[in-house]
Amino acid sequence: MAQDWIDIGATSAIEAGMAATVPVEGGEEIAVFHTMQGQFYALVNKCPHKAGPLSQGIVHGDSVSCPLHNWRISLATGEALGEDKGCTPSIAMKVEEGRLFLSRAAVAATRTQVPQKAC
Ligand code: FES
Repeated sequence: MAQDWIDIGATSAIEAGMAATVPVEGGEEIAVFHTMQGQFYALVNKCPHKAGPLSQGIVHGDSVSCPLHNWRISLATGEALGEDKGCTPSIAMKVEEGRLFLSRAAVAATRTQVPQKAC
């Protein structure tokens, strides 16, 4: 159903290799990433280490390096890669006809007061 998804704008609004943030009233800010390979991913904009803003990290392949301490985070799963352990919630999204959509349920889950479950 159309109302299951939130239209957040045109794909062209985020350059390849960059990210944009989507505020969520009463919830966690979401980072939307556009990889150099043309894929889009969305994660809560908090590194699982010490909440660094992942949207300001460097996107390479299908991961992002946190700008604070350089942990690498999978854009697909939100999991820390390599030796590091932790996970930030990923937000289901889709691309249709040049538009980006976030899962309404996943966005709503960022508003819960209980800790997000681990990946
Ligand atoms: S806060 Fe992201 S690596 Fe430390």
